Amino acid sequence: MSELHSVAARMVEKGKGILAADESTGTCTKRFEGIGVESTFESRRNYRSNLFTAPGLESYISGVILYDETFRQNIFGTDNSIPQYLQSKGVLPGIKVDTGAHPLKDGSDEKNTIGLDGLPERLGEYYALGARFAKWRAVITLGDGMPSNDCILANAEGLAKYALSCQQASLVPIVEPEVLMDGTHTIDTSFDVTERTLTAVFDQLEKHNVDLRGIVLKPNMILSGYDCKNQASVDEVAQKTLECLTKNVPSRVPGIAFLSGGQSDELATLHLNEINKHDTNWNVTFSYGRALQQGALKAWAGKLENTKITQEVLLSSAKSNSLASTGSL
Ligand code: 13P
Repeated sequence: MSELHSVAARMVEKGKGILAADESTGTCTKRFEGIGVESTFESRRNYRSNLFTAPGLESYISGVILYDETFRQNIFGTDNSIPQYLQSKGVLPGIKVDTGAHPLKDGSDEKNTIGLDGLPERLGEYYALGARFAKWRAVITLGDGMPSNDCILANAEGLAKYALSCQQASLVPIVEPEVLMDGTHTIDTSFDVTERTLTAVFDQLEKHNVDLRGIVLKPNMILSGYDCKNQASVDEVAQKTLECLTKNVPSRVPGIAFLSGGQSDELATLHLNEINKHDTNWNVTFSYGRALQQGALKAWAGKLENTKITQEVLLSSAKSNSLASTGSL
């Protein structure tokens, strides 16, 4: 098996999932503001070191997605670089490589993700520093007349070009087309837009000769918009999500690792568990940011003495999602 195939298989190994800890400095600062903690180079390093050094994290977590700053930091109080520390624990280090979602056109509410300039050089450096996979997040917004076909196509092309560059640099690309869950739309609209998006993404991946056995897909689940009056049940979310993915994701793809997208921790876990009670063509797991970290962030509260409780809360959440990834919660 090629390195790409074996890394992709490890990322979605049964009973494990991915910890997304790649918040940009701006996003991390917003999260810290929510708990009244100043966001600095050191406070971000302290918080993330607490997460990564949680004892036994590797039983539930196959890989961690890092942001450039974290990728170049040492574990708090040590000389161990964070990617090398993760590797020594048997956890794959990953790196966010897009440079953000920007307006598709002047004044547009739609976004296009950028970051292709200089990408091959950056990927080569990250690989040499220990990265084994990468992430690029495309954002599809729902609303009046949105998403446009132009938005879907531009984002699908960006994802495909990024994925090919990653594979050429021996990194497994996480392909993340996120259809946002904000809005009043129904679950059926979420289904239709996700279907349009996945169709375009796989069309572009094939056109760019991306090896589908060497990627991990990171999609949204199919949910009712957060402000929709009728909220679909856990059963319906699982059934519609599976139907949409089965129709639109080739079985050559080894794994699907969902984003949580602002769902409550509990619902993100319950949905994953319900989905995994069914037979699927791929390993289906989590690549959660907020749904894994929310509790740990509150427990930490910016204080060094809260390390143990921060780690306990993270491990409890990681364990629940590990069980959900085999439908055995
Ligand atoms: P959430 O689980 O908080 O949506 O974050 C996952 C992620 O990596 C978004 O790109």
